[in-house]
Amino acid sequence: MSTFELIGFRDLPLAACFTWLAVVLILYGVCAWLWARVRRQWVGIPFSGTGHCCFITGAGDGLGQRVALRFAAEYAAHHCSQEEFADRGPDLSPLSQVFCGVLSEEQGRALVGLARQQTGDDCARFLHPVVCDVASDASVEACRKTVEDYCAQHGLALKVVVNNAGVSAFGFAECLPLARFRQNMEVNFFGAVRVSKAFLPILRANKPSRLLNMGSVGALKASGFGSAYLCSKAAMCHLNECLREELQPLGVRVVMLQPGFFASNLLDRASSNGASESDPALSRVYCDYGAMMAETAKNIAIFERLNGGIGGAACIAEAALEAATARFPKSRYLLGIDGYIRATLSPVGPRPDGAGGSTCRDSSWTQPALGRR
Ligand SMILES: NC(=O)c1ccc[n+]([C@@H]2O[C@H](COP(=O)([O-])OP(=O)(O)OC[C@H]3O[C@@H](n4cnc5c(N)ncnc54)[C@H](OP(=O)(O)O)[C@@H]3O)[C@@H](O)[C@H]2O)c1
Repeated sequence: MSTFELIGFRDLPLAACFTWLAVVLILYGVCAWLWARVRRQWVGIPFSGTGHCCFITGAGDGLGQRVALRFAAEYAAHHCSQEEFADRGPDLSPLSQVFCGVLSEEQGRALVGLARQQTGDDCARFLHPVVCDVASDASVEACRKTVEDYCAQHGLALKVVVNNAGVSAFGFAECLPLARFRQNMEVNFFGAVRVSKAFLPILRANKPSRLLNMGSVGALKASGFGSAYLCSKAAMCHLNECLREELQPLGVRVVMLQPGFFASNLLDRASSNGASESDPALSRVYCDYGAMMAETAKNIAIFERLNGGIGGAACIAEAALEAATARFPKSRYLLGIDGYIRATLSPVGPRPDGAGGSTCRDSSWTQPALGRR
């Protein structure tokens, strides 16, 4: 008896095909859902261990701030309930810390104040602001030293670094000043390089550990008016892949988060900067581009609203926590509805789980000698 006969579709093979397809899709969905649950529950780098620390760049605002508060809440949930720490009073700080990279001390104070307001002391005492301008060698080096000294003094181990700081620029390439391209590369790409280079020796020493990079779905499928920003994020995406292959055998998992559009100051600043810096002599050209730019801005606003529900900052912060802790994190977290649309449209884009990426999983892998075969 054939399979079609078995399932009662002897005379309707097409319908049977659809039935089988539906069964396979449902099974796939169930397995994917189960695996997602297992991934979330199966912790590899727990936040419950004392002396476990994180560092997040650009934590003074937007997504970085959300991630910092989420990480601090996780520490609070584990540590504040433990009886052995109950008599410590408000000072749990040396137990675990979220080092929050900010651009000024004032911004750091505002961050702690906000945390205190929103979540009470429990969460705020795990936040440790530290000034870090990712576009400056000296600032990143000073920040690394501060974090390293603090950890050494209190017996802490830095386990997670998040390259989150970013700037953007919205405008048509013909008119967008070269300085804006440079600024986007300097902060989004070279900033990530600078911070990774500074902190990787610490992460390697504290393995198993994690390096998270905040990319963008725009790096998978670029679109108009984002040339400066998207090129810098595409470069960061490749940096992520290179680091992932180099560091996996050494105990540092490198994970990329690729959110779609969500409401933050990033795009507001990007558009205002783009407009104010544009050369008035090019106003005629603006007219040619104007309608398309308005259309793009409208689409972005739609995705921001759509993602507000399931891909917004809170959801991304949750994904960052999973990426930082899960025993088997994904290589890439595509977040937001536009994430999936762009990934589908992308002709050569990597798959969401990065399955097509690194093949270097063998811990015995060693650096081949270049130039010698
Ligand atoms: N919003 C989106 O739709 C979207 C989508 C995909 C990916 N992302 C990525 O998510 C990350 C966070 O963006 P966001 O939306 O949360 O934007 P945001 O609210 O503007 O936050 C960016 C943060 O980076 C900081 N920063 C800027 N230049 C810096 C520098 N040189 N050194 C250190 N910190 C610096 C900013 O500080 P100040 O506030 O003091 O300027 C701010 O705290 C970025 O990497 C961005 O590319 C955002």
